[in-house]
Amino acid sequence: MPQFMRALVAGKVGEPADVLRLESRPVPTPEAGQALIRVKATPIHASDLHVLRGRYGFRPEFPTVGGHMECVGHIEALGPDTEGVTIGERVVVVAVPAIPRPHVAGTWQEYLVADARRLLPVPDRLSDSTACQLAVNPMTALLLVTRELDVGPGELLLQTAAGSTVGRLIIQLSRYLGIRTINVVRRRDAVEEIKALGGDEVVCTEDEDLVRRVAELAGPAGVRKAADCVAGQVGAQVSQALAPGGEVVVYGALSTHRQTDPAALTIPLQARSVIYETKAVRGFWLNRWLGAASPEDALRALSQVRGLVADGVLSIPEGRPFPLERFADAISLAETPAHGAKPLFVFDEGG
Ligand SMILES: NC(=O)c1ccc[n+]([C@@H]2O[C@H](COP(=O)([O-])OP(=O)(O)OC[C@H]3O[C@@H](n4cnc5c(N)ncnc54)[C@H](OP(=O)(O)O)[C@@H]3O)[C@@H](O)[C@H]2O)c1
Repeated sequence: MPQFMRALVAGKVGEPADVLRLESRPVPTPEAGQALIRVKATPIHASDLHVLRGRYGFRPEFPTVGGHMECVGHIEALGPDTEGVTIGERVVVVAVPAIPRPHVAGTWQEYLVADARRLLPVPDRLSDSTACQLAVNPMTALLLVTRELDVGPGELLLQTAAGSTVGRLIIQLSRYLGIRTINVVRRRDAVEEIKALGGDEVVCTEDEDLVRRVAELAGPAGVRKAADCVAGQVGAQVSQALAPGGEVVVYGALSTHRQTDPAALTIPLQARSVIYETKAVRGFWLNRWLGAASPEDALRALSQVRGLVADGVLSIPEGRPFPLERFADAISLAETPAHGAKPLFVFDEGG
C-alpha cells in the first residue's frame, strides 16, 4: 500500500478550475467501523461545482478534497471491528454530504475512508462508470417517484428537464411502474428522443405554452403530481398547470445554471391558487433525505436502484473518463450545454 496518494484539493471557495490543485496527501487510515477504499471512478456533478463555488446547501471546511457525492472502488483495508464487508470487494460509496455532517471527505482522491455500513457491493456486470453514478441521480429519481410523490400505476406525472439524467431515469422508472409521464423539454430536437425513451407525452417550451398544453393532455381530471428541476418561470408554470390539490416537488434550479440569477432562483406562485386550490410546492434534497434516513434505509434504497439497473430497467449513460491531472478539461465538459457523457475521474489499476 502506498503511503501517499494524489488528491484534488480546493484551498478556498472560488471558480473550481482556479482553486483546485493536485496535491500529494497521506493515505488515510480506517478507524473502527470504517473501510479504506481505493477509488476507481467518481463523477463530476454540477453539485460538486456548486460546493466549490460556495453556492450549495452545504459548505465543507476548506481546504477540501473535491467531489462530495459518490464513487466506486475496491476495499483495501478495514478498521478495527469493521463488519459486513470484505477486503477486495468492489463497492459504491455514497458520499453525499448528508446533513448534519458529511460521511466522506471528498471523492476526488485515490483513497478515502468510509463508514462500512454505507457501502454497497456491486456485481461485475455493472461497469465502473455505471456503478460510480448509482447513488445520486438514480436514487433521486426513485425517491421522487415512489416516496416523495408516491405516484401510482395509471397516474399522471408531470416533469421538467425531461432530457436530464434524472429526467430520463424518471421516464424509465415510470414506464416500468405503469405511470404515465408528461415531459417538458426546452428544445424541439429533444422531443423524438424523449418519446423513443418511453415518455408518453412531450411538451416543448420552445414553441408550446406549458400550461395550455398540459391542460389539453391531462384532460378534465388534470395532473396532480409534478417534479421540477428548472424552477423560475417554468417552475411557476408547472404549479399553474396542476389540478387543485396538486403538488410539485422542486429538486433543482436549472433556470440559473450557476445559481447566480436571483430572479431565476425564485418561483413566483399565484397566491390565489395556493390558497383556494390548495396547491403545494415542496423541496427535495437527497442530502437531507440521507441525513434523516438510517444507514439501513439508505442502503435499502440504493440496493433497490442497483437491482433496477442490473435488471436493465434503468440505464445510466456511460461517462467520459478523465485522469485527475485533466481536471480543468473535465470541469469544462461538465459545464458545456448538452454535453452528453458525464465526465468521470478514473484511476489506474495501480491506484
Ligand atoms: N435535489 C437533489 O437531491 C438532486 C439530486 C440529483 C440531481 N439534482 C438536480 O437535478 C437537475 C438535473 O440533474 P442532472 O444531473 O440529471 O442534469 P444533466 O444530466 O446535466 O442534464 C441537464 C438537462 O437540463 C436541461 N436544462 C438545462 N437548463 C435548462 C433550462 N433552463 N430549462 C430547461 N431545461 C434545462 C438540459 O436540456 P438541453 O438538453 O436542452 O440542454 C439537459 O437536458 C440538476 O438541477 C441537479 O442539480 C438534484
